[in-house]
Amino acid sequence: MDMINSIDEMQQRAQLASVSGQKISFVPTMGYLHKGHLSLLEEGRKRGDLLVLSIFVNPTQFGQGEDFEDYPRDLQRDADLAEQAGVDIIFAPTAKAMYPQHYATYVEVEGITENLCGASRPGHFRGVATVVTKLFNIVQPDSAIFGTKDFQQLAVIRRMTADMNMPVTIVGMPIFRERDGLAMSSRNVYLSADQRQQALVLSQSLAVARQLVAAGELSSATIIQSLKTKISAQPDAHIDYIQICHQLSLADQEQVDIDSVLLLAVYVGQTRLIDNGYLVEKT
Ligand code: PAF
Repeated sequence: MDMINSIDEMQQRAQLASVSGQKISFVPTMGYLHKGHLSLLEEGRKRGDLLVLSIFVNPTQFGQGEDFEDYPRDLQRDADLAEQAGVDIIFAPTAKAMYPQHYATYVEVEGITENLCGASRPGHFRGVATVVTKLFNIVQPDSAIFGTKDFQQLAVIRRMTADMNMPVTIVGMPIFRERDGLAMSSRNVYLSADQRQQALVLSQSLAVARQLVAAGELSSATIIQSLKTKISAQPDAHIDYIQICHQLSLADQEQVDIDSVLLLAVYVGQTRLIDNGYLVEKT
């Protein structure tokens, strides 16, 4: 496995792979890998001849007062895990190389970035769309694999790649959960043992919502109200949003249907956690 920090070197390796007929699969991350990331790498291994993992904590997707400085980082641990997962190249550029002095170009995806995390974290998706575009231009992947825990992020990247005719196949992989249901996230390390227990309320809320729907309750307002009551009973939880949206447009829905996704963002202590899931079983 090679560790590449230079943008030029990564682009040269990508071009070499392409002329030798190799397919490049790509897993973009901010590091501090967990089993969810490893499931993306496993999929990437199947889809390409050259598997590239990027590790870059992207400053432009963090707002003022967010956890950019504190975001967990451990490159050596990540490198060990990546090697075991069969990664061929780790691309780990510096922020200075990605955003040099006089950097002035950003990618904006309209519409679907305005709701949900886009409303709570202004500028977040502009940062994500910008860095993903840059990473795609550098790594030149045939396929790129993302987790669906960041449901809105995946929708934004799909929209952007389609709108901009980017020649890359976007693959979404299911949320990887701990045995007790907590969605895996690098940010889970911030939680104390007690908060970790309280954080289960997110996945439990998904289960409750599905039960309500299965029992015939289709009013989004009623479902959301019952989840608000449930989540607010946790002493350290405070709700950022609970919304039921159409899976493609991400517009709020008054009534649940086959396309409905429940999306949640909840602070447990200082840690902002997200989760989501479809409300109607797909047959
Ligand atoms: O999901 C992430 O880890 C990040 O948002 C991404 C896609 C790597 C862009 O920085």
